[in-house]
Amino acid sequence: MNEKINELKRAKNALILAHYYAPPEVQQAADHVGDSFYLAKVAKQSRCDVIVFCGVGFMGESAKILAPEKKVLMPAPEADCAMAHMVRDGAIEALRAEYDDLAVVCYINSTAELKCKSDVCVTSSNAVKIVRALPNKNIFFIPDRNLGRYVAAQVPEKNIILNDGFCPVHAKITPEQVAKEKELHPEAPVFAHPECEPGVLALADGIGSTADIIALAKSSSSREFIICTEDGVDFRLVSDSPEKRFYYPMPRPCCGDMKKNTLEALLSVLEKEDKEVFVSEAVRKKALVPLERMLELGK
Ligand code: 13P
Ligand code: SF4
Repeated sequence: MNEKINELKRAKNALILAHYYAPPEVQQAADHVGDSFYLAKVAKQSRCDVIVFCGVGFMGESAKILAPEKKVLMPAPEADCAMAHMVRDGAIEALRAEYDDLAVVCYINSTAELKCKSDVCVTSSNAVKIVRALPNKNIFFIPDRNLGRYVAAQVPEKNIILNDGFCPVHAKITPEQVAKEKELHPEAPVFAHPECEPGVLALADGIGSTADIIALAKSSSSREFIICTEDGVDFRLVSDSPEKRFYYPMPRPCCGDMKKNTLEALLSVLEKEDKEVFVSEAVRKKALVPLERMLELGK
């Protein structure tokens, strides 16, 4: 199947992008694998005609917004990020009416409609840097309460108003599960994604995006690690350091939507060029503003 994928890719000048949570065989078939920030940059900068995005809805949508001249295909367009929708109608408007200088900071895990109402986008790898760089004192951080709380702790000079969204996958990781792994592997540092709940982050030795966690583990002199994020990262962790051991809170965190990106679906979308991502020009123009501001401030 990989041969066929490569053949079609060359014939169509297509680029395959995959998130670290995609299944291992899909990561293996991809031209670029990365965290959300990296993949958004590659989507914009790459010189190709077709992007096949193996991720969830907001990722393909962001790629199309940043690179409208390219055909963006998603092997699993039904793969959605539950958190992307978790902002109550009217919440942004109410806070804008309350604070003159409000900046709405929108995690890239959000719908295009939410991005349209926002001042800047962030990802887990640049949120602290970007919020710190904003001139505004009052910030409404949407949709993720956990990343928002984490940023607030790092940037105490800002008034960060939290929204109640969360990632259902990371929210299932409990401090008790982490403590259990720590008991079994007392020497292992704990690396966690900022989407984890505060009780889990309190136990972490390192906090960062999927790419940050992978880099931390690769450069660490430790031999074993407890990883608090979706278990798709295991493929890269083990490929980078086959001699190291990686443990996960049990049950292992798994994002069912990311796993909808199968190799079969990838081949099919390359063959048929169906499942294209469309964003209306009115929405695209508005949502582009916070995304481009993120690329600028995140440099
Ligand atoms: P990263 O940007 O850290 O890869 O996170 C994306 C995501 O969906 C985490 O749940
Ligand atoms: Fe969304 Fe959570 Fe899945 Fe990431 S792991 S795509 S935040 S549901």
